[in-house]
Amino acid sequence: MEQHNDNFRSRVGVLLALAGSAIGLGNLWRFPYLLGTNGGAAFIIIYLFFVFIICLPIMFSEFTIGRRSGANAFRAFRKLSPGSKWNFMGIFVVLTPILVVSFYSVVGGWTIDYMVKAATGAFSGTSQQLGSLFSDTISSPLGPIIYMLVFLVLSCLVLLAGVEKGIERFSKVMMPALFVMIVIIAIRSVTLKGAGAGLSFLFNPDFSKVTSQTFMDALGQAFFSLSLGCGTVITYASYVAKKESIVGISAQTAIADTTFALLAGVAIMPAVFSFGISPSQGPGLVFVTLPYIFSHLPLGNLLGVIFFFVLFIAAITSAISLIEVAVAYVKEEFKVNRVVAVIISFVVVAVIGALCSLSQGNVLHIELLGKNLFDLLDSASANVLMPLGGLFSVIFVGWILKKPNVSDELTSSGAVRLKKAAIDIIFFLIKYIAPVAIIVIMLGAWL
Ligand code: PHE
Repeated sequence: MEQHNDNFRSRVGVLLALAGSAIGLGNLWRFPYLLGTNGGAAFIIIYLFFVFIICLPIMFSEFTIGRRSGANAFRAFRKLSPGSKWNFMGIFVVLTPILVVSFYSVVGGWTIDYMVKAATGAFSGTSQQLGSLFSDTISSPLGPIIYMLVFLVLSCLVLLAGVEKGIERFSKVMMPALFVMIVIIAIRSVTLKGAGAGLSFLFNPDFSKVTSQTFMDALGQAFFSLSLGCGTVITYASYVAKKESIVGISAQTAIADTTFALLAGVAIMPAVFSFGISPSQGPGLVFVTLPYIFSHLPLGNLLGVIFFFVLFIAAITSAISLIEVAVAYVKEEFKVNRVVAVIISFVVVAVIGALCSLSQGNVLHIELLGKNLFDLLDSASANVLMPLGGLFSVIFVGWILKKPNVSDELTSSGAVRLKKAAIDIIFFLIKYIAPVAIIVIMLGAWL
């Protein structure tokens, strides 16, 4: 099938773009706080198991859907299975990333705000004062929306430059820099006095904190962190050359993402323990605890700027991949050029994002199911929408697309060597293990 005219150019470019999508606030913000509330190493073990047994087969499936169709996420299902009942999936995988990126951009805005705060020496006082600084920051009506818009405009500038000249080039520069910076912060953290307790929290499992919700949290986090179940991998895969290995690229992306999450844990937990702070305080961990720690370290302001810059870069490469799903959809389905598609996507995301941001304050406090809009989108995307998107993708690939097509795609029509046994195992995971596991874990958490 034909491909688009603007594609990824090199294998490294594909890898860094996918890693850019995967590595994000999920690794630096969500992973550490989930780890903190779910028993540290015990959570990591369950998480790793899910990444490699359930999520990697899902990534193979989404990669297959995207590359084989060579179309945007909406069109991909129609193209591979014309006239089928699967058209709803096309809509699902375009809507989910729009919802995700709406709250994601709000947090992206906070990262810029906190970079400015670190640079201007705003981190001082007790941890309680820093707690109120954070809640005041995010609940004020205008500030967070302006920062969110800055974040979105910057993301859209990269998108305007296109797949190869924008997304690929940006990822190639930013992702290596990101790794270097997180390693520097991790080294600083483990050399603090009393850092050992943080490391043992990270690497000695405490299974007493594990509940059925832990499994759901770990699965949701694996989906969120690997950018699965929401059209992103499908869209990026449609820009990947036929000769590249789906299995190789997916596995490397998962390894890069997991390594980065662990590095983030090593960067954050030892510092938290060294200051005698509880790791289990939830989403405020990165925005309250860390500023408190920075305010007590020599060169703390500089470290603060670097840390929030890391957070910002990680977030923007992910936001770009989320918005690109909408851009590709609008561009191809409404036959407009990239500029128009980017502008339309920007407006939609900015409006929902502004509502999310306002839902945290008093001016327009929108609540649904007992949660404000922001919290609802955060938990619903990882724990409901993305697992469902992933579930449908593996069912589609395992049961509709059929094995010969999948095997043809996994081997790049013979260009990539894969043992027959390997294909059999992968297909078995896609067709039976992944769907059953997702259903069991979701039911376990809900019932
Ligand atoms: N994977 C990103 C992160 O960990 C978030 C994301 C989700 C990006 C879904 C794209 C698609 O922060």
